[in-house]
This record gives sequence, C-alpha cells and structure tokens, in this order.
Amino acid sequence: MRSKRTLLALGAGAAALTLGLASCSGGSTDESNDGGGSSGPEVEVFTWWAAGSEKAGLDALVSVFDSQHPDLEFVNGAVAGGAGSAAKDLLQSRLQAGDAPDTFQAHAGAELQDYIDAAQIQDVSDLYDEFGLTDAFPADLIDRITVDGAIYSVPSNIHRANVVWANPAVLEEAGLDPEAEYDSIDDWIVALDAVQETGKTPLSIATTWTQVHLLETVLLSSLGAEEYNGLWDGSTDWEGSSVTTALEEFELLMSYTNSDRDGLDWPDATQQVIDGQAAFNVMGDWAEAAFAEAGLSSPTDYIYFPVPGTAGVFDFLADSFTLPVGAPNEDGAKAWLETVGSAEGQAAFNKAKGSIPARTDADTSDFSPYQQSAIEAWGSDVIVSSLAHGAATPVATLNKVSDATSKFTTGASDLATFQAELAAAVNG
Ligand code: GAL
Repeated sequence: MRSKRTLLALGAGAAALTLGLASCSGGSTDESNDGGGSSGPEVEVFTWWAAGSEKAGLDALVSVFDSQHPDLEFVNGAVAGGAGSAAKDLLQSRLQAGDAPDTFQAHAGAELQDYIDAAQIQDVSDLYDEFGLTDAFPADLIDRITVDGAIYSVPSNIHRANVVWANPAVLEEAGLDPEAEYDSIDDWIVALDAVQETGKTPLSIATTWTQVHLLETVLLSSLGAEEYNGLWDGSTDWEGSSVTTALEEFELLMSYTNSDRDGLDWPDATQQVIDGQAAFNVMGDWAEAAFAEAGLSSPTDYIYFPVPGTAGVFDFLADSFTLPVGAPNEDGAKAWLETVGSAEGQAAFNKAKGSIPARTDADTSDFSPYQQSAIEAWGSDVIVSSLAHGAATPVATLNKVSDATSKFTTGASDLATFQAELAAAVNG
C-alpha cells in the first residue's frame, strides 16, 4: 500500500483550483481512500527522470504540484535509463497487463501516435478547455499532439537535440580557440584531431541511444533540414549516396569517442566534459541542467553551439504527459496535467530541466543564457523532428534503428549493412 505524507499548507488560489477540478470531474479527493479507484490521493507519475539533473527537474514540477494540489500525493514511478531506454519497454508491459500508471511521459509526435493507435491513452481536449490551454501552446505543437480533432497529451517542455557542449580549457590545451566556429563536420574533425593529440577524449559519448542521437544530428548536418525531413516521409532515399556520406561521417566521428561508451549513460558522457576528460559532447539540452547542477557557468566553464552544419535548425523534441486508459486515479492524473500545463509549472520545471517552456507565456526572465538562446532559436530556426526522442518515428522503428546502430558501432556490421538495415527499419 502506498503511504501518505504530510500535506503542505493550502493556499487560497490552489484550493479554488483543486475544488474546481474535483467538482468538474465529478470525483472526490477524499484522503481516506488510499487504494486506487478514481478518487484516492496518490498519483503515480511514470517518467525516466530518476536521478541527477533530470530528477531535479521533476522535483521542481512536483513542488508546484504539491502547492497547487495539496490534497494529492505524488508517487514517483520513475524508471532509470536515459531517453526512456528501460522505461518504455516496462511501460508497454504494464499497459498491456492493465497496470497503467496514472500518467506517463511520452514524446510529442510519432511516439505518441503509438499509444493512440493502441488505444492506450485518452483524449484530453476537454482539459484544454477547462484549464485554458488551447491558446497557451504554439499551434504547431498542438498539431503534433492532435489526431482527428482529439488531443492526447499536455506538453511540458521543448528540448533541442542538436547541441555540442564543450570544455574551453580542454580546447585551449589543444591549441584551439574556444570561440572558433565550425561550419561543417569536416571543419570540426580538424579540432577533434587536435584534441586527440593531447591524449584527452575528443568526443564523449555513451550507450546506444546516445549514438543514435549523434547519428541523427550527423544526418541533419550532412543532408540539411529538407533532405533530413525527407527521411521520415519517404522523399529521401535511405539507400542513396547522400546517406552513405552521412554514415561515413558518423563512422569517422565515432572513431574519436571514448571506448567505454557502451557501459555509460548520458550523464557520464556529459560529466567527462565537465571534468575536463573530454573536449566535446553532442547531447540534448538536458545537458544544460547537468552543467548548472555542477555549478558551472558559460562561457567560462563550458560552451555550446549547434552541431556543425546545423546552425539555424532546431532539432526538436517535447516531453508531454498523458491520461492512460485505465488510469487508477483519473482525477489525480488530471490534476497533474493541470500543473504540467500551468505557466507556473512550466516555468519551474523548465528552468531546472535545461529546456524551454512549451507554453508561450511562462515567465522565463530568470532562465540561463543558454535557455534564452534556445527560446530565440525556437522562435526563428527551421524546426525538425528528433529521431532518438520519439518525434520523427514510432517506437518500433526507433528500436530497429537502435539495433542496427549498435551492431555497427560494436563492429558487428559494416557500413553497407548498416545503411541497408536503417533503410529497412524506416521503410518497414
Ligand atoms: C529524452 C527526454 C528528455 C531527457 C532525455 C535524457 O528522451 O525527452 O527529457 O530526459 O531523454 O534522458
């Protein structure tokens, strides 16, 4: 049985919101009901933000939830493993066994479509009216989570995937100017060679999903935004020569990475840059939260720039929260979605998470300089969808891409086989 915990002080505004929600949804938040059903206090929130800076982001959201809904109790259903590498399979088993959490994290875009097609999540468009969310999010984002007029989740953030993070002291040690700009992967290779000479790791990376993350940014750099988009709608030939060139670049970049990569997750790879063991790391901007958590500031301690060849393009992903079919505590889940969608929730969560609010009206005045730059880029760049983070393809496709990538980077397949397997993964 889940335990209860001390309730926080009840503010007048939060009380009004909570009462309004309980009466609209016809539920009760009676704390004496301690075991499932639709009216208990406990709300199980399933994510993969289990530790470190990701947990700090979740904690920030939970504290807003606690103050907006003091009669409810957050229950942490987090499953460790970056990018949901362990969480997504476990979630699927739970959903298929009829053991849905009250709400779970899912990426806006193709990944969400998986759950919609399997009838595992509910239409929450009435909550958009109830919580006044319809005009709070960019229309384009609403489009990505809408199917046949129904909306299936509440987005919590916007992350950018195509970012290089670097340690300026390591660059200087290699005789490189930390302010240098690299227009292409070729330009960047010259810098990686210089770092290699010093004995440090030029490019830190971790387990398979981070390699797929690197791969997507190299495809974007090499093909450009239009051809990259064509990879997902069939208009770019996966077996063509431009993809071969990109895969050759990927292979070359992988040769500059740390050999212990397959046993690491993203925080370890980013930590190598923080600790000065590595010069560069390609990672989504959840890394910004790791630099902040380490007490570092940019540009003294770390620098960032778009993956060479991708300036002006924002490789996008958005975490969002759902209302599963069979959620034991629907009213509690709706309250969580209310907090996720609120301006206050978005400001607190994103400041700690390194991302930017999906809402356009959240207060971002105290966000970091990196985050301010991301807000600007989100408003002006060409937006493309992330492969490694569920925006571009369904989970089944991503799993096949990941298997092919792992085979290639562990030496179990050659480049031609890799390319053929990627083509088969995406084209079905
Ligand atoms: C992404 C997720 C981010 C971050 C990252 C690393 O898929 O959208 O919020 O958690 O994985 O775990």
